[in-house]
Amino acid sequence: MRVLLTGGMGFIGSHTAVVLQEGGHEPVLYDNLSNADRAVTGRIEQITGKAPKFIEGDIRDQARMEEVLRDEKIDAVIHFAGLKAVGESVVKPLEYYDNNIIGTLRLLEAMRATGVKRLIFSSSSTVYGTPQSLPLRESDPTGEATNPYGRTKLQIEEILSDLCRADPTWSCICLRYFNPIGAHPSGLIGEDPNGIPNNLMPYVARVASGRLPVLNVFGNDYDTPDGTGVRDFIHVMDLARGHAAALPYCMSHEGWKAVNLGCGRGYSVLEIVAAFEKASGRKVPVNFAPRRAGDIAANWADPSLARELFGWEAQCNIEDMCRDGWNFEQHRAAELAQKQS
Ligand code: NAD
Ligand code: UFG
Repeated sequence: MRVLLTGGMGFIGSHTAVVLQEGGHEPVLYDNLSNADRAVTGRIEQITGKAPKFIEGDIRDQARMEEVLRDEKIDAVIHFAGLKAVGESVVKPLEYYDNNIIGTLRLLEAMRATGVKRLIFSSSSTVYGTPQSLPLRESDPTGEATNPYGRTKLQIEEILSDLCRADPTWSCICLRYFNPIGAHPSGLIGEDPNGIPNNLMPYVARVASGRLPVLNVFGNDYDTPDGTGVRDFIHVMDLARGHAAALPYCMSHEGWKAVNLGCGRGYSVLEIVAAFEKASGRKVPVNFAPRRAGDIAANWADPSLARELFGWEAQCNIEDMCRDGWNFEQHRAAELAQKQS
């Protein structure tokens, strides 16, 4: 199948492109490079033996999207493109609504105009808000998002649901990701945020390699076994395989569906630190800091619907995630050292 990956040059998109290519599909990567490097296609070529097609463009450019959907004879779209930094979304709400909401509307209009009505959307467990019970099931109510980024995910889910209700020939699957971490085992692609990382795993990796001095643990007084936040971490390769598994379902069913992609168990911040220390053989010094605004104590998924509908379940454990995250960090650190010399 020919699959358009909006935001395909980013962290999750690039891993999904690898899995799709290895599965015999032809991904076309459409990205404005606002948070990605054009070297990604070459890295995918090193992994799979073939560079995927890359088209530089913005999802808000409807005419261009229509052209690409037609010219590339696209069968389905996986929509990763968007801005994703929670803290930044509080400071720049208009940029987030413009990119994520307006961008999605333009994409949907382009899809309607070209008759491509198969969409898989990158949603997030953030749509559940503060969980009333755990594990989280898709039938649980969506909650109150605590920031503009989270609100864009909820609003896009609702837009897609309204669209499928109005025109039942559409198929829209919202994949609610839990916390993706790790990297491709080759160390060639992974997550390397600019500046100081917001998320736990890239931060821990940089402390282990000495690029940052100490990890601030945000809160150790939560109602969790060791007092620190608990999350359902999922290897990005498992997440990528989840998209490939959702594709045949999306092609053969109509209507709207939300499906969790998680492992089904939680690890605390301190458990992640310990696992990363073991994988890297390095010490990760921690400093206990106050809770971060908007954080919840714990969340983890009930991943059984993905198994039932797509025949998918996560295969990698926390050791795999930390090993591959550390391998990627070492590759990046070596590349940076080479650039500086
Ligand atoms: P990423 O920033 O690495 O990838 C997003 C890509 O979209 C980037 O390559 C960026 O250049 C591109 N992009 C942004 N705005 C664009 C636009 N207007 N037009 C074209 N391209 C544009 O992020 P990621 O971690 O790979 O996340 C992918 C998707 O998954 C996002 O929608 C994100 O909100 C969602 N998600 C991510 C996580 C996570 O923890 N990483 C969790 C839940 C959901
Ligand atoms: N944490 C620290 N120190 C840090 C960074 C994080 O202690 O430097 C803690 C947080 O307080 C939280 C846990 O580590 O308890 C995980 O935090 P992340 O920032 O890695 O992840 P979140 O669960 O807050 O959010 C992430 C993405 C969201 C997405 C959500 C669910 O940032 O975009 O997962 O998929 F919506």
